Amino acid sequence: MSRTMVAGNWKMNTTPTQGTALVKEVMNKVPNPPTKVVFGVPAIQLLAVQKLVSGHANYAVAAQNMHQEEKGAYTGETSAEMLVDAGIEYVILGHSERRDYDGEDDELINRKIIRALEAGLKPIYCCGEKLDIREANNQEVVVGKQIEQAFSSLSPEQVAQIVIAYEPVWAIGTGVTASKEQAQGMHDYIRRMIANQFGSEVAKGMTILYGGSVKPDNAEELFAEPDVDGGLVGGASLDAENFAAIIRAIK
Ligand code: G3H
Repeated sequence: MSRTMVAGNWKMNTTPTQGTALVKEVMNKVPNPPTKVVFGVPAIQLLAVQKLVSGHANYAVAAQNMHQEEKGAYTGETSAEMLVDAGIEYVILGHSERRDYDGEDDELINRKIIRALEAGLKPIYCCGEKLDIREANNQEVVVGKQIEQAFSSLSPEQVAQIVIAYEPVWAIGTGVTASKEQAQGMHDYIRRMIANQFGSEVAKGMTILYGGSVKPDNAEELFAEPDVDGGLVGGASLDAENFAAIIRAIK
């Protein structure tokens, strides 16, 4: 089975009206995508966007967050069960913006991953180093630790359900993209690490996305790398023409 995927993370952008129009435009431009395409939409749009993609084998929807508890007195939160009942297939967890602005760490993210998997949701787990770590050439140690903590106590069968998105923080929303060598180097490291801890079959089947200023003009060379299975796209996923071009960059 193909490992490829292009996921858009709209973050806190688009009203429901704009989001619906954007999804329709992307689907019109790419009615038969050469890869799995995921729209990571704001919570208020999940149901409407799920309705639009339902029945299209290669289109799916991701929530941008969920709570680690099953249910209860957590005002304003969304549970894994609610997402599954709404037909949502994926949930983005561990994004650097949630780590920075909401104080999420890999211990909490581990609890969210476990909850998501128990409910039948597939996590898109984000990891990545900050600029000072890259400058000190410590990125593999830091990303390795993030994954080790976030995947702690998971079985190989559970890890096989997860998509990893490597997002160097210095490349997110900055216009600075990791070079194809930097992306491939980290993806290869992550795949070897998964092979060591969870077995080579899990590693071989794992989808590892690159995120950080993916654009139509750099997507093709990034996605051509053997361990870069696609992208988690922020800014460029908000424009139908750009997102369609990035989807088509999967060969
Ligand atoms: O989740 C997506 C990433 O944060 C990348 O965002 O493509 O705007 O750099 P960006």
